[in-house]
Amino acid sequence: MAEFRDSSRVSMVDRLSLPRKEPIKIADEATIQLDDYFVPTHYLDYLDCLLIPHGTIRSRVEKVAKDIATDYRGETIYLLCVLKGGSAFFTDLCEALNKFHAYEGKTYLPHVFDFIKVKSYSGTSSTGQVSITGCDVTKLKGKHVIFVEDIVDTGLTMTKVFEYMREHVEPASVNVATLCEKRTHLSCGFKARYAGFSVPDKFIVGYGMDYNEIYRDLNHIAVINAAGIEKFKDEC
Ligand code: IMP
Repeated sequence: MAEFRDSSRVSMVDRLSLPRKEPIKIADEATIQLDDYFVPTHYLDYLDCLLIPHGTIRSRVEKVAKDIATDYRGETIYLLCVLKGGSAFFTDLCEALNKFHAYEGKTYLPHVFDFIKVKSYSGTSSTGQVSITGCDVTKLKGKHVIFVEDIVDTGLTMTKVFEYMREHVEPASVNVATLCEKRTHLSCGFKARYAGFSVPDKFIVGYGMDYNEIYRDLNHIAVINAAGIEKFKDEC
């Protein structure tokens, strides 16, 4: 007989040590025709196909928020939105977190947030370096921190951010919520605790993700085509 566990009695630290919930897998061959959804005219010639429609993204973000709210209940979360790509995910995630918090009538703050930029340098050193700008992360000592990212590709950036946080900041806990996780043979093995979708190894854009600063305004997630790569190759 399965052991009965009252989940409300399990501590946050124990909840965070449980295995992560796996992201929804978008198959390698998955494609949605551009004509099936509303796609702004200015992008019609510059996309191969849609991968995740906006409505599906919104629903999935709501569930990721619920998982976070459940794991961290009783604690104020310090959210760090990784600019610029993480901005759309961050906005919808906060909206959902606020909703769950308010519905449950909690008396403590749901979260505090800030915006950061992360630059990683591989250089000649095998460990590399990372610079985090936009917010003084050292003030997060002893706090429960979650980085909010658009996509984990090789995972190197977030691996270095974790090393930096542990060495220089000592937060009470640190995790990552990413909307997408790329299935790539170049992955260093980093896995975000919260991941919305596992996506094929293709260059994707939309919902905050860009190619040379273009496509962030597209509300679906889509695969860029060769014409788009050529057309926007000289943008910022
Ligand atoms: P990583 O260090 O290789 O995991 O790189 C992660 C960062 O690369 C993300 O935060 C994005 O800014 C960028 N990135 C990686 N893959 C894509 C993509 O398919 N589309 C847009 N940006 C991407």
